Amino acid sequence: MKIKELKLEDLHLEEFIEDKIEEITAIVGSGSAINALSGGVDSSTVTMLSHRALEDRLKTYFIDNGLMRQAEPERIVGLFGELGIPVEIVDAQKLFFDALKGITDPEAKREAITQTFYKAVFGRLVKASDAKYLLQGTNYTDVEETVAGIKRQHNILAQLGIDTEEAYGYMVIEPLIQLRKPAIRAVAHALGLPEEIYKRPPFPGPALAARVIGEVTPERVELVRKATRIVEEELQRTGAFQYLAILHEDRVIGMREGKRDYGMQIEVRCWESEDAITGAPTRLPYEVLERLADRITTEVPGVVSVTYNITKKPPSTIEAV
Ligand code: XMP
Repeated sequence: MKIKELKLEDLHLEEFIEDKIEEITAIVGSGSAINALSGGVDSSTVTMLSHRALEDRLKTYFIDNGLMRQAEPERIVGLFGELGIPVEIVDAQKLFFDALKGITDPEAKREAITQTFYKAVFGRLVKASDAKYLLQGTNYTDVEETVAGIKRQHNILAQLGIDTEEAYGYMVIEPLIQLRKPAIRAVAHALGLPEEIYKRPPFPGPALAARVIGEVTPERVELVRKATRIVEEELQRTGAFQYLAILHEDRVIGMREGKRDYGMQIEVRCWESEDAITGAPTRLPYEVLERLADRITTEVPGVVSVTYNITKKPPSTIEAV
């Protein structure tokens, strides 16, 4: 790998921030740039850095792909509004669900999301503006996993030989590419982002689609969204690295009110990890597991089975897709 990791212990925060602001200013010149904010630590940090560098020459979009957690677009846009950074929501739900229709293979799903995001959505946004640059929060772990062929992270382009200017009509700037999560959190903190952002558990670019096994439809995303809300409410206080709900494709026999119910299965994962490269399941108390099972089977329609994943990464990965 050509990119060299910049470790947290070697990072001089103020110097890094100054350097990146200078770099962004020099590349964009007198032109303008756009960026996508998802509300995760990485894209929030890039938004803040780029805004400092470019101010009103930066246009920030929140792409509502229909795969986000409950009320996420409004919450993130509101939070950045308070920081003085205007964000426009782009409703791209139909584009994403159309692209995902009938696809069950994990890498094919990731590819459909990548193409929709960079070509259909950003290609159009760039054409409609005079921006030539897209700023995004690709990090060192994303590159490493994609290059190793484990998972194609949605935001990896140049490292896979994709010329973004030729393929999509704009160039991509990645100020955080040398950093892993703990270092990005430190930069986010130093930039003055609130704790609810710099301490946020990671959330994947393909969003809830990374947690739906089988076809990604609006109905199936809604199920995993409801389960996600419960898992986040119940596990937030654990301080774990990441916790999530996965909707399985296979159904199993259950029973409700004395009758057979051929229902759905939700798998819960809760991870201890430093940097997402390796991980181990959190030893959750049994009462917490029981509460999760009770709430998910009562509050998410059609779910009759809840399991807890006890596998380490590797051989598991953090997300299911
Ligand atoms: P895996 O599932 O590969 O995930 O063990 C490692 C970490 O990366 C997140 N993740 C992604 N992040 N784009 C991202 O920006 C992606 O396509 C993507 N896929 C997984 C995952 O949530 C975990 O923190």
